[in-house]
Amino acid sequence: MAESTRRVTVLDLADAKRRKTPITMVTAYDWPTARLADEAGIDCILVGDSVAMVVAGRPSTIPATLGQMIYHGEIVGRAATRALVVVDLPFPLQHLGRRRAVAACARLMKETGCQAVKLEGTAGQADVIAAIAAAGIPVIGHVGLRPQAVHQLGGYRMQRDAGPLMADARAAAAAGAFAVLLECVPAPLAAEITAGLDVPTIGIGAGPGCDGQVLVFHDLVGLSLGRVPRFVRSYADTRGSIAAGLAAWRDDVRAGLFPGPAETPT
Ligand code: KIV
Repeated sequence: MAESTRRVTVLDLADAKRRKTPITMVTAYDWPTARLADEAGIDCILVGDSVAMVVAGRPSTIPATLGQMIYHGEIVGRAATRALVVVDLPFPLQHLGRRRAVAACARLMKETGCQAVKLEGTAGQADVIAAIAAAGIPVIGHVGLRPQAVHQLGGYRMQRDAGPLMADARAAAAAGAFAVLLECVPAPLAAEITAGLDVPTIGIGAGPGCDGQVLVFHDLVGLSLGRVPRFVRSYADTRGSIAAGLAAWRDDVRAGLFPGPAETPT
């Protein structure tokens, strides 16, 4: 997938599962991060409702609104020309009935230019996934740790109840989800779910047995300010680079070294 210049499609992701080619997905919320992810050949970009935490400094994803998802989704949808762009349906639209969920997903598709949506849910939301898929909207089901349900789940913790997790993933796939995202699921269980589904699984904190992996951009590049979950590996120290650059510029200004001749108009 990474070599092609055309847009990644849901069929490419199904093909990747058949070929056992790992799928890559990363979050992005703005123009520069979406461009960087797209140029890096990442398969899918997720405009996650984690924007509420990562960008707005909120304590959970619950405050994210449909208007905010459209705002960030439209920017990312324009910036990414190759990756499949997925936008999160914010809380609580998947719980307000099929009509409202389909209407909200339709707005995400029409107003952002994205190619798919993702919603958090259990088997109880299968009818909503089916209605969205029936409307021709590609949809991912997010099971396991569902951050929008953090208070009900008692915190951001591993989900170990194999029976319900298996049922939720199967229900999402049977309802027409083109992929299932597994968050904070023990690796052996995630691998078992993956083997039992015809559609790809994309894992976060779910081990290597998933068909793909997703991380939050800021965690991946070392730009997160808060505690980073144990399942994250940071591949860069962007926060350190930015802090060093800012301190160097501050010191140069204070020392009268910036602007120098090169930056001074004549
Ligand atoms: O909103 C988000 O960033 C997500 C990821 C944690 C998968 O759903």
